[in-house]
Amino acid sequence: MFITFEGPEGAGKTTILHKIAQRLQAYGEVLVTREPGGIEIAEKIREVILNPMHTAMNEHTEALLYAAARSQHYFERIIPALANEKIVICDRFIDSSLAYQGYARNLGIEQVAAINKFAIGDAMPDITILFDIEPAKGLARIAANEQREINRLDQETLAFHTKVREGYHKVAQMYTSRIIVINADATVDEVEQRVWQALEARMNKSE
Ligand code: TMP
Repeated sequence: MFITFEGPEGAGKTTILHKIAQRLQAYGEVLVTREPGGIEIAEKIREVILNPMHTAMNEHTEALLYAAARSQHYFERIIPALANEKIVICDRFIDSSLAYQGYARNLGIEQVAAINKFAIGDAMPDITILFDIEPAKGLARIAANEQREINRLDQETLAFHTKVREGYHKVAQMYTSRIIVINADATVDEVEQRVWQALEARMNKSE
């Protein structure tokens, strides 16, 4: 079972991912990982992409670097874990590229899907949880979190983050049976509850 968590900055995705990973242990061994990163080579690519100093990076380079990190991470870490029957839960995956680079950066969802096909073939998660929140609320949450690293994409405008949300909505419409949209405008406990209910229902259906 390959599960991904998606959504904009400040939606509570990563906090809740760790709580859900604990609950999933009742179903089997769980591997928690993230994108871009998860293994050494991809973590190095992450540093290049997200370095706040790299303002000169063009959107094509950005999309290709995310796809490169994804390919290495997918084949080096995710595939072997799935082969060992682990439940893999990944913080972001291809839908981030479709929403951020494909839609918000205007590269085209189809174009970005094509470079990802080169990177990972037809690989897709079994289930994706999409955290949905108004961008202004998400950005206010990250501004209030002093421990969080500020990355290059956090520095984008509210208009960019609004496009990211629209992009996610488009992607969710393209993959209605895979992507579950969760309203993330609530307390952490409440959102965790919503995610768990949706996930358990879907897992029981696919068994
Ligand atoms: P995060 O791991 O803290 O969520 O940061 C990753 C950032 O990279 C976040 O701003 C979303 C962005 N991103 C993309 O734009 N495209 C991608 O394919 C991925 C995986 C992340």
